[in-house]
Amino acid sequence: MALENVLIEKRGRVGVVTVNRPDKLNALNIRTREDILAAFDELEKDADVRVVVITGAGEKAFIAGADINEFAGKTAVQQRAVMKGRRAFDAVEDFPKPVIAMINGFALGGGCELALACDIRVASSKAKLGQPEIKLGIIPGGGGTQRLTRLIGEGKAMELILTGDMISAEEAERLGLVNYVYPPEELEVKTMELAGKIAEMSPVALTLAKQSVKNAARMEIRAGLEAETELFALCFSSEDKEEGVRAFIEKRKAEFKGR
Ligand code: COA
Repeated sequence: MALENVLIEKRGRVGVVTVNRPDKLNALNIRTREDILAAFDELEKDADVRVVVITGAGEKAFIAGADINEFAGKTAVQQRAVMKGRRAFDAVEDFPKPVIAMINGFALGGGCELALACDIRVASSKAKLGQPEIKLGIIPGGGGTQRLTRLIGEGKAMELILTGDMISAEEAERLGLVNYVYPPEELEVKTMELAGKIAEMSPVALTLAKQSVKNAARMEIRAGLEAETELFALCFSSEDKEEGVRAFIEKRKAEFKGR
């Protein structure tokens, strides 16, 4: 299936997914969500790609949320059917490689939620983030009430979700909602530097590390610690572990193969 609203590009070991509906501020209609799923499926299979960066086309927006036009006239039964299918938010969260959100502008509603499903968020200083669903008489439905709360705590998540207020990138950084803020002209270089640094690590270890960190929000602490021990031990079945350890002993740079 040819992608209509998403571009895929490879820069060395980094795959870049660009949501490409700039005239609609990259709002997520059904087709765009399907394209995001297809793009991630393609990049999952591509062993050359070790890290994915997702961003929005144009100057203004990362993603300005779900496409509000698709809400008009929808019944509960119809909307539930749309949301019970395979979901881009969950596919990004469960993606076996690290995913970085490069937030180049508005990240609102489903846009903020897609960023929350990513592993690391880097924002332009002109980005604005928020969960404005309440202003439409609805609530976040792409994981916002859960992932935002786990990331920044209940008090601030509640405030953002109940007021629908947008916050600046600087405020988002202060809250721990984004990892870094850069001037717009530096955003891409800095994000690609971070992605490139992570892409040099063992893909096996990256997958297991991501899984284990995610377990912290999904498991009770003792189960999470036990799972960590198992995942740690599993690293010892990889060629990459032997390469990493030998490279340290031999005082050279490790060349990880993802095996
Ligand atoms: N769904 C559908 N279309 C959207 C959209 C969305 N979530 N966000 C923006 N657009 C469209 C606008 O309708 C407009 O289309 P048009 O040119 O055909 O009229 C175009 O994108 C540009 O947006 P515009 O509102 O003119 O830009 P702005 O700079 O004045 O305002 C925002 C920017 C982000 C503040 C404003 O677009 C907005 O509030 N968007 C909705 C955000 C939202 O509530 N998201 C959560 C949805 S659950």
